[in-house]
Amino acid sequence: MTNAVIETILSRSASKYYDTTATLSDDQIRELVQIGTAAPTSFHLQNWRFIAVRTPESKARLRPIAWNQPAITDAAVTFIVIGQLVDTSVIPNRLAPLVEAGVMPANMVPEWEIPARDLYMAYPQRRRDEAVRTATFGAAAIIYAARSLGMGSTPMIGFDFDAVASEFGLADDEVPVMLLSVGPERPGNWKQKPRRPVEEVLDLV
Ligand SMILES: Cc1cc2nc3c(=O)[nH]c(=O)nc-3n(C[C@H](O)[C@H](O)[C@H](O)COP(=O)(O)O)c2cc1C
Repeated sequence: MTNAVIETILSRSASKYYDTTATLSDDQIRELVQIGTAAPTSFHLQNWRFIAVRTPESKARLRPIAWNQPAITDAAVTFIVIGQLVDTSVIPNRLAPLVEAGVMPANMVPEWEIPARDLYMAYPQRRRDEAVRTATFGAAAIIYAARSLGMGSTPMIGFDFDAVASEFGLADDEVPVMLLSVGPERPGNWKQKPRRPVEEVLDLV
């Protein structure tokens, strides 16, 4: 089974070496994030935010609080991928464009907001879990979009969460879920590593 999407998924690897002379325009960065935000989110919450670290000055602020990882200064851009703790009171706002477009009937909005409130709002762990899920889906979409455009990417958890949150002005309800470097590569990157056998990770029931 293969097609262009599957080929993109199967050929992606985590990049180590980037073309240090390459840049992405702000419009290209916007386009990548726009594609990322096509990823699904629970109740259409869209509880994410992206900070594109792309100037030498901003990269110099990030690298020392991110384990000094070279990708941050080498790659064209590094996104701080942020998940926002679920706040279900934003749901009417998030659904308004669908209602205005005539896709969702207005009286259906409470049918999403009320169960969402009951699912999340009394449970801090669930609010945070969803922030991490949301940001991860967004990051994944950017990773594969980048690969399909011939660019490398590196998801990174090696950073100081508190330092990144304060240096880049994250709000109290925002979790810095991961850093994601993206850009044209230079030669020398490893291919995708072999995976555990499917039999080990799949239960057919
Ligand atoms: C959540 C997450 C965090 C990661 N953190 C780092 C990191 O801080 N630095 C790094 O060089 N690679 C990081 N990686 C890349 C992984 O090491 C890499 O994806 C894994 O070894 C599999 O390699 P492949 O994706 O090239 O097949 C991270 C990957 C993920 C998904």
